[in-house]
Amino acid sequence: MRLLRTDPTRPDPHVIKSAAEVLDRGGIVAAPTETVYGLFAHAYREDGCIKVFKAKGRPMDNPLIVHVDSLEMAEEVAEIPRDIAEVLRRVWPGPITVVAKSRGVVSRCVTAGLDTIAVRAPAHPVALAIIRELGAPIAGPSANKAGRPSPTTALHVVEDLDGEVDLIIDGGPTFFGVESTIINVTRRPPALLRPGPFTVEELERFFGAVEIPPVARGVAEAEVALAPGMKYRHYAPETALVVVHFDLGDAVRALKSKGLKVAVLCAVGKCAEADYVIDMGSDLYEVARNLYKSLRDLDRLGVDVGLAPALEERGIGLAIMNRLRKAAGHREVFNTGQLLSVV
Ligand code: TXA
Ligand code: MG
Repeated sequence: MRLLRTDPTRPDPHVIKSAAEVLDRGGIVAAPTETVYGLFAHAYREDGCIKVFKAKGRPMDNPLIVHVDSLEMAEEVAEIPRDIAEVLRRVWPGPITVVAKSRGVVSRCVTAGLDTIAVRAPAHPVALAIIRELGAPIAGPSANKAGRPSPTTALHVVEDLDGEVDLIIDGGPTFFGVESTIINVTRRPPALLRPGPFTVEELERFFGAVEIPPVARGVAEAEVALAPGMKYRHYAPETALVVVHFDLGDAVRALKSKGLKVAVLCAVGKCAEADYVIDMGSDLYEVARNLYKSLRDLDRLGVDVGLAPALEERGIGLAIMNRLRKAAGHREVFNTGQLLSVV
């Protein structure tokens, strides 16, 4: 395995060329996008795609996102409705993925045999440069082991996938820190499948009405998964994590009185003294950037319980709460009685 470093804003052409060569041969490359690090294969190569699933330990029925450098490239692989294409011209590249009808040209492994395909143009100079150099779309999930938090640094990729990737490109920490927003545009109105940095407020402004099913908030496990990935348990920390809707100080005291060791993940000024305090940030964008690193850190502390404050589900806050709920295995409490019954 090789690790190459590059300036994220002005990608080193040698590094980009190396990445494209590996992909062209059917190899796999981890590289930064503006959301999280991706684990990429040439979207037309079955062998590369299979390596991605193996390295990640991902079930083969959970399809990958296809990353393109333009609307034109997206239209090679997907049938994008004309009105949606008009919008994508304005919002791409960016952290918004659309699920559309597949043209069936990418490897079947990529779409897990579905007749739909998820596509996005990433707004990261490194990811875009790799696609341009290769002259073809690249398919990939987040570059973590299945069931671990998504990687926001190259170090996280090394932690999870050391020895299983042909090349890791270190382009520094990612910008948003949570995965792209996904909408299904085969339906009208389009339906939100996963909240992300492209907010509901922005979706409504650009796409008009958007359906927001409860699963998009991460509140309940749907009987029938809307996105194939929804049926899989996401990050499950070893440490019991709980989302707290009341005073964090009261929550810590209740747990301490039971002799438990507690860590608090502070956010936007919601904080309390505890055995450990991890400050995720003072505004929601900073919290999003630090979220997955904080969850990784939590598991290293050896505490009995981690507490995270419930945040406002506006803007990128909806994406943060969706990820927190999943990481907490839906343990969400409104008073100390509930808290003590779930730990
Ligand atoms: O920001 C991101 O989206 C990152 C970067 C690397 O681009 N990628 C990412 O990929 O988060 P992944 O594989 O971790 O999540 C992709 C999600 C999965 O939940 C998958 O089930 C869903 O997209 N998906 C892919 N194809 C789909 C399809 N045809 N229909 C519905 N959902 C689909
Ligand atoms: Mg993922």
